[in-house]
Amino acid sequence: MASYTLKVRRYQPEATEDEKRGAYWDTFDVELDPTLSVLDGLLQVRDGQDGSLAVRCSCRAAICGSCGVKVNGQSTLACKTQIGEAAEEAARVHGAGPDEPIVVEPMGNMPVVKDLVTDMESTHWEKYRRVTPWLLPEGPPPEREYIVPAEAMVDVTQSVACIQCGACVSACLSMEADPGFIGPAALAKAYRFVGDPRDGQTTERLYDLANDPHGIYDCTHCFACIEACPKGVAPMNQIMRLRRLAGDEHDIQDVNNGRNHELAFVKNIGKKGTLDESLLLQESFAPGIKGKLMPRIAAIKGLIQSIPTAIRGIRTGKMRSVPKLIPGVHHKLPGDAQDHVKRIYERAEESRVELNLYIIGEGGEEDHLPGQEGPAAEIEAPAQAEDVVS
Ligand code: SF4
Ligand code: SF4
Ligand code: FES
Repeated sequence: MASYTLKVRRYQPEATEDEKRGAYWDTFDVELDPTLSVLDGLLQVRDGQDGSLAVRCSCRAAICGSCGVKVNGQSTLACKTQIGEAAEEAARVHGAGPDEPIVVEPMGNMPVVKDLVTDMESTHWEKYRRVTPWLLPEGPPPEREYIVPAEAMVDVTQSVACIQCGACVSACLSMEADPGFIGPAALAKAYRFVGDPRDGQTTERLYDLANDPHGIYDCTHCFACIEACPKGVAPMNQIMRLRRLAGDEHDIQDVNNGRNHELAFVKNIGKKGTLDESLLLQESFAPGIKGKLMPRIAAIKGLIQSIPTAIRGIRTGKMRSVPKLIPGVHHKLPGDAQDHVKRIYERAEESRVELNLYIIGEGGEEDHLPGQEGPAAEIEAPAQAEDVVS
C-alpha cells in the first residue's frame, strides 16, 4: 500500500454554495497498491470521502470505454492508468518529489456535465453517426455468408478495435481549432467500412469525407490521437489511409484543396529539404500557375482566397517573417544534405507497402499472411498490437 494525492477538477452544476458554482480543484488522499488504477483511487474517494464525486465507469478493464479522463494532462482511460505510474509521471513532469499530486481532469474538447463526466453526444456520437458506421453492401445478399479475404479483415481490424472512449477526440488539436472536425474516432471508424470489401459505397464515402471541409484533410498530422488511444487504433494512420485511397486510388480532387496541399508539401520538401512557405502556398492553391502562360482560373481564385490564411499566419507568428513568402529567398540546405533528402524519398518510394499488420502472432504457419513468405510476426507491428485478440 502507498499514499497518493489526487487533485481532481470538479464542476457541480447543482451546487448552491457560491464557491462551488464554477469549476474548481479538490484534493483527496488515498491509500492504494501502486498497481491499482487511477479509477480505483477515484472510486475510493467516492466511496469513503465524497459521494458527490461524479466519474463514469463500468468494466474497470479497458473494455467499455466509459472512463475517459485526463491524467496529468494526458487523455486516457482512468482504469488503464496505474496509480503508481501516474504518481511517478506527475513527479517527473513537475520535477518534484513523490508527494506531487496526480492531476485528474475531465476530457478535453467536450462539454462537462459534472466533475469528470463529459457530454460526448455532440463531440463524438454525432460525428460517429455522420460517417454512416455500418456496411452498405451492393446487390442482394449472398445465399450464405459473404466470403472476405483474410488480409482485408486484417487491414480493418485495427479500426475495429476502437472502444469509443473518446480519448483521441479529447486530445485532438484540430478539434480544438475547429470543433466541426469529424475527428479521429469517427474517421477511424470510417476506414473500417471503406476498407471492407463487402461495402459497395467506397467511392461515395471517400468523396464525401474528402470534400467535407471538416473531413480527412482537416487533420493536421499531429500524432496526439495515436499517443492517446488506449487500444492502439492509431486513428491518424486510418485517416492517412483514407487520404491515400481518396487521392491515389480514386483520384478525388477535393474542393478544399487538401489533396493539392499534401502533394505540394511532398514536392516542396523533396526539392528544398525544408519547407519553402512561398512555394507551398502557390503549389497548394495554384498548381500550374508557375511556368504556364495560362494559369487556371480556379487556381488564381484559390490563391486569392488563401490570402486571409497567409495574413493570419503572419499575425500569429506561424510564418515568422514576411520575406519567407517571397519566392527565391528560402535558404538551401548545406553541403550534400539535399542529396540525402532525395535518397530518403527514393527509399520511401521503393519500399512503400500499405499493410496494416495489427494482428500478429508468435510465428509459425498460422501466422503467415496470404502471399507472405515468412511469419507476420517478423514484420514491425504497431504498438499495443498485443491488446487485440484475433
Ligand atoms: S493527428 Fe489529426 S486526428 Fe489525430 S489528433 Fe492530430 S489533428 Fe487530430
Ligand atoms: S480510436 Fe482509440 S482513443 Fe479514439 S475512441 Fe477509439 S479507442 Fe478511444
Ligand atoms: S471502466 Fe470500462 S474502460 Fe475504464
